[in-house]
Amino acid sequence: MRNYPLYLAPMEDVTDPAFRLLCKRFGADRVYTEFVNADAIVRDVASTMRKLRINDAERPVAIQIYGREPESMADAARIVEQAKPDIIDINFGCPVKKVAVKGAGAGLLRDVPKMLEITRAVVNAVKTPVTVKTRLGWEDKLLYLDDGTPFIVDLAERLQDCGITELAIHGRTRSQMYRGDADWTLIGEVKRNPRIHIPVIGNGDITTPERAKECFEQYGVDAVMIGRATFGCPWIFEDIRRHLDGQPPIERTMAWCMDVLKEHVERSIEWVGDERKGIVHSRSAGLPPDTDSAIACRYKRRGLSYNGRDRRTIRLDKQHRS
Ligand SMILES: Cc1cc2nc3c(=O)[nH]c(=O)nc-3n(C[C@H](O)[C@H](O)[C@H](O)COP(=O)(O)O)c2cc1C
Repeated sequence: MRNYPLYLAPMEDVTDPAFRLLCKRFGADRVYTEFVNADAIVRDVASTMRKLRINDAERPVAIQIYGREPESMADAARIVEQAKPDIIDINFGCPVKKVAVKGAGAGLLRDVPKMLEITRAVVNAVKTPVTVKTRLGWEDKLLYLDDGTPFIVDLAERLQDCGITELAIHGRTRSQMYRGDADWTLIGEVKRNPRIHIPVIGNGDITTPERAKECFEQYGVDAVMIGRATFGCPWIFEDIRRHLDGQPPIERTMAWCMDVLKEHVERSIEWVGDERKGIVHSRSAGLPPDTDSAIACRYKRRGLSYNGRDRRTIRLDKQHRS
C-alpha cells in the first residue's frame, strides 16, 4: 500500500523547534524550519543562526533558505550543511513584498534563468539532498507558455535537471498571495508529466483529513504539505493518518486539546528563553483565538497583563491569511 507522507509546511515564526516537535509527535513525516535568509547566514547574524538549530528528535527535518544571489545561496548552503539537516530546501515561493520584489522567494518566478542558476549553485555546493518549494507562477496571465505548456510543468522539468531531489508546489500564483483557492489541477499536471521522476509534494488548503485523501487520490502527489490547518491543531497529522488508514476519528475533549496547547506554550517559553516573549511567540505560532483567555489567566497568575494579540501576530494574519 502507498505510504502517503504528511509534511509540516515551512512557516515563518511558526515552525520553530517547539512546534516542529509537537507536529512530529502527532505523526508529521517531515518538518521544515521557517525560511532563513542566506545573506544573514553568511554574515553570521546570531538571531538567524539560531534558526538553524535542529534536534535529532524532529528528524527528518529540512532547513529552508532563501536569497537572490547564487554565490551567497551556495555559501549559505555550505554553512547550513554543518547543522546536519536531512534536507536543504530552497524557497522560491515567498510572495511578501520585502522578499519577492527584491528578487528572492517568489520573485525568482520572473527570472527563471537566475532561479536555475541559484538551484545549480546550491546543489553543487553540498552533499545534502536539495529540494525546492515554489508556486504555480508569478500571476494568472503567465500560467501558460506560448505553446500552451503550463509554466509550472516546464519549470519542474528544468528544476529537476538542476539536480533537486523533490519539488513542493503551493497551488497559487505569487499575485494571489494567500487569496482564492489553491489550484491543484496544475500540481496534478506536473505529477502526470512522464518526464518528471522526482517526488512531487502538493500544498495548499488542506484543512481536513478528507481533503488530504482526495489530493492524494485525485492528483497522485507523492506527499502533501500542511500549513495553516496545523495552527492550534498539531494533531491534524494523526487525524489525517487515521482517516487514510480507514480508522475512526478520535474524539478529542477540549481539556485534552488545552493540555497539548499548554505544552506548546511551555516549549515555546523554553525555546525563546523568556516567559512573556514565549507566550506571545506561541500565539503567533498558531494558538487559536479561543486560547487567548487561557493565556490571559496564565499572565494574571504571574502578575502580568495580557492585551490579546500582539502587533506582530496581527501583521502576520494580514499577510498570510487574507
Ligand atoms: C504564517 C505563515 C508563514 C509562512 N512562512 C513560510 C516560509 O517561511 N517558507 C515557505 O516556503 N512558505 C511559508 N508560508 C507558506 C506555507 O508554507 C504554505 O505554502 C501556505 O500556507 C499554503 O499552505 P496551507 O494552505 O496548508 O496553509 C507561510 C505561510 C504562513 C501562513
